[in-house]
Amino acid sequence: MVRKKTRRTFLKKIMGSFLTVLGISSGGYYYANRIEPSLLELNELEIKHRLIPKGLEGLRIIQFSDTHLGFQYDLSQFKKLVSKINQLKPDIILFTGDLMDEPNKYTKLNDLVPILNNLHAPLGKYCIFGNHDHGGYGSEIYRNIMESTNFKVLLNQSVKIKLKDGSRFYLIGIDDAMLGNPDLPLALKNVPNNHFNLLLSHAPDLAETAAQYPIHWQLSGHSHGGQVKLPILGALIMPPFAQRYPEGLYKIEGKYSLNLYVNRGIGTTRLPFRFMAKPELTIFTLKSSSFT
Ligand SMILES: [Fe+2]
Repeated sequence: MVRKKTRRTFLKKIMGSFLTVLGISSGGYYYANRIEPSLLELNELEIKHRLIPKGLEGLRIIQFSDTHLGFQYDLSQFKKLVSKINQLKPDIILFTGDLMDEPNKYTKLNDLVPILNNLHAPLGKYCIFGNHDHGGYGSEIYRNIMESTNFKVLLNQSVKIKLKDGSRFYLIGIDDAMLGNPDLPLALKNVPNNHFNLLLSHAPDLAETAAQYPIHWQLSGHSHGGQVKLPILGALIMPPFAQRYPEGLYKIEGKYSLNLYVNRGIGTTRLPFRFMAKPELTIFTLKSSSFT
């Protein structure tokens, strides 16, 4: 306990110094406040697994996360992101939570609807709840806006993604670990164990629990990649349930073996800065493999 406190104090001091340095150096402040938050990194990954049938080879899935509209990120930026996503021609679009920073205070819902409606994916648009989507009694606001723009909200439930030739996989969505009620057994109720299973969980740290179930890949957000990072020390502030897996790809061993991918998200929260944690869009391509 004492060690934890000392570490927290230490990190607070470092964070304070970082912000002081940013404040002193107007270039640094400008970069972290205006430049880096508006950059976008495109990461492309293959999802290989022996349970992915040949018929699903080449299927393109785009994940975006943590837009936090209304804090620093605005609708004109989101409109550009939506065009970018459409240009990439995804088969499926996934949103892994935290759409608005404060749903109950967000005043531009009417302008947000046509932008979300403009996202196109022939095999569907799916989303889950993040902690900010529940915060301030925002749950129904979030659910309504996503459902009215043709997103299927996966709240402790699954959906079968099936092509005309019969090849399929299962997409599972779990409630947020911080402010919701995640229930993996309920979410997996209709999922057979002989197909590829892809889990969406806002909170990355849930992967350790998910590895106890027949889930092959998990896609998460929530961490913002630390949002502000320092060389060597790495991410300084990690929210609860994003303490262990800040960004990128991890292999989690449990009863089953799980691949976890953590997307750094798009927007910011609490502090209007990103430093060494660029906004990210991730494109996954499915591949059949005889080994994994
Ligand atoms: Fe977030």
